[in-house]
Amino acid sequence: MEAERVHEIAILSRKSIPEEYIRSKNEQPGTTTVQGKVLEVPTVDFSDPDEEKLVRQVMEASRDWGMFQVVNHEIPSEVIRKLQAVGKHFFELPREEKEVYARPPGSNSLEGYGTRLQKEVDGKKCWVDHLFHKIWPPSAINFHFWPKNPPSYREANEEYAKHLHGVADKLFKCMSIGLGLEGHELKEAAGGDELEYLLKINYYPPCPRPDLALGVVAHTDMSTITILVPNEVQGLQAFKDGHWCVVKYFPNALVIHVGDQIEIISNGRYKSVLHRTTVSKDETRMSWPVFLEPPADFFVGPHPKLVNDNENPPKYKTKKYSDYAYCKLNKLPQ
Ligand code: SIN
Ligand code: FE2
Repeated sequence: MEAERVHEIAILSRKSIPEEYIRSKNEQPGTTTVQGKVLEVPTVDFSDPDEEKLVRQVMEASRDWGMFQVVNHEIPSEVIRKLQAVGKHFFELPREEKEVYARPPGSNSLEGYGTRLQKEVDGKKCWVDHLFHKIWPPSAINFHFWPKNPPSYREANEEYAKHLHGVADKLFKCMSIGLGLEGHELKEAAGGDELEYLLKINYYPPCPRPDLALGVVAHTDMSTITILVPNEVQGLQAFKDGHWCVVKYFPNALVIHVGDQIEIISNGRYKSVLHRTTVSKDETRMSWPVFLEPPADFFVGPHPKLVNDNENPPKYKTKKYSDYAYCKLNKLPQ
């Protein structure tokens, strides 16, 4: 049986949406979003020469929000524009062309074109299709899942990956110093130079009932750090002080999420952010998160320098990243 794609459902849904896309009352964005309030997550300007200030801003945002935006990050806007253009091109191809890249059923990797990742307890579905593939390091890449059409897809993604290292390293360094560690220690505890960059492209087609459906259901990212490029269609929401609030779109900014592994390494001093996405009535929303992930067999746990037996015992288990991911994806206790 062919898998169901939201892109197709959207084309057939003119006024209403199928029952399984209607979220339960306590999740519907129409009634659970704080109206008229555009939440402004902290913004950090990476071109600021005052390093102490940068560290403080990154530290406070990671502690209080688990989410912030980076501006003046030195990734040329042309590189981002091309990444977006080739991704959009792929998702607008006829269905048969996209299905060539479908995630094989039963695969133990997330890579490939697909719909819906997590089983939801109440059987509800998310209004989004996606494509996952690794973009770094070269030894971890499976080009089978990189679209051949458009032909410039590969170059655009390689260019973006190349430019991301500077941002990733600067984020790790600021977060590390913000915890009182040496600049290199946080990244080392997260996988060091073996860190893998997993790209996900989210494609949220227009939805006739954006008040009832959700794009991506509330979750925290299991990565170390997530670096995300959105398109101009607003839809990301963060859970802050008990309310769902819209995160303001800034052209050219990168949205940073603190993921579960950083919360663990920091022994809870930094928080992974609870977030979700809504969809739009008339426009297609897209986003390009890159999850910086430890290698599968890498052990992650609270940093030894950030715990002690008396006042500050470890709050999280130390475990292999693959075991953490298995429990998270199957909704098992950690
Ligand atoms: C996600 O958290 O998976 C998606 C975020 C977004 O689309 O902005
Ligand atoms: Fe996410």
